[in-house]
Amino acid sequence: MNSHTAVSMPRTAPTSTAGAGARRDTVDTALAWSARLWFGVAILGQLLFAWYVALFYGGALAHGDLAQWNKVMPRGYVAGDTAGNAAVGMHVLVAVVITVGGALQLLTPLRRLAPVFHRWNGRMYVLLAVASSLVGLYMVWFRGAVGGLAQHVGISGNAVLIVLCAVLAVHHARAGRIMLHRRWALRLFLAVSGVWFFRIGLMAWIVANRGPAGFDPVTFQGPFLSFLSFAQYLLPLAVLELYARAQASDSVAARGTMAVVMLGLGAATAAGSAAAAMILWLPHL
Ligand code: HEM
Repeated sequence: MNSHTAVSMPRTAPTSTAGAGARRDTVDTALAWSARLWFGVAILGQLLFAWYVALFYGGALAHGDLAQWNKVMPRGYVAGDTAGNAAVGMHVLVAVVITVGGALQLLTPLRRLAPVFHRWNGRMYVLLAVASSLVGLYMVWFRGAVGGLAQHVGISGNAVLIVLCAVLAVHHARAGRIMLHRRWALRLFLAVSGVWFFRIGLMAWIVANRGPAGFDPVTFQGPFLSFLSFAQYLLPLAVLELYARAQASDSVAARGTMAVVMLGLGAATAAGSAAAAMILWLPHL
């Protein structure tokens, strides 16, 4: 989300005075930088996640000790189920490629400097995100995953949205509708980030409550986790829509408020990423 993305919309309202124009410029700059700041924090948090996934899951694979996966994923490795284990391995290792690829895809200077890379990286990102979501559906409904029905329905909704956003992002790119392509590509990025939002959201919640609240840590079920399974993608997508509307709005107050919201979300994202790194990721490396 930055000033060059699909959510950029021209405004036509005239500025009545030089003072109002200067205030408008300041607020526009603040809004653009608040979004860049959020994006920078999110990318750092996602790279930490990818680093953990590569070292933990990839390390176990390299040592031929897949049973290690079960330390964090109860049905990660199942003896004798070669196809299922391969699917899980594909799902987690593809996550590393997707995470790095997604960060590169949204960097505006890189997109301008290397459009061919943007196209090929985009194709790979879309293909892997869709394939990984389908494997995820298999893991949830056939192989068995932690959590209850509401959580399984929630994450399945995430898979459906990833496929939908991927199809529409590609469709608009091929038709040359770049603004719509960018809009759906941003939605795709946030939907693909749902798994990461879940983890940083859960850790921020646990730290804020000084322990598990609203769910049973043994069964890993409860109202908060059911809520989070939907919120992990619906909330970020809602914020993106609010951002787009604020940016297109003539109201300086609306854009200023959105800039403040983005700063707050940047701080929350940093806190959630730090908590997830300390509690979930680094202890396994
Ligand atoms: C395309 C974006 C996705 C990425 C990048 C991704 C990445 C990951 C990663 C890295 C893990 C290991 C988590 C950890 O060690 O903390 C994981 C686990 C898992 N993912 Fe995904 N995932 C994605 C989408 C999905 C979707 C859409 C579904 C379901 C429809 C899904 C289902 C699962 C399941 C069931 C687990 C195992 C959780 C457990 O039972 O412990 N994933 N995913």
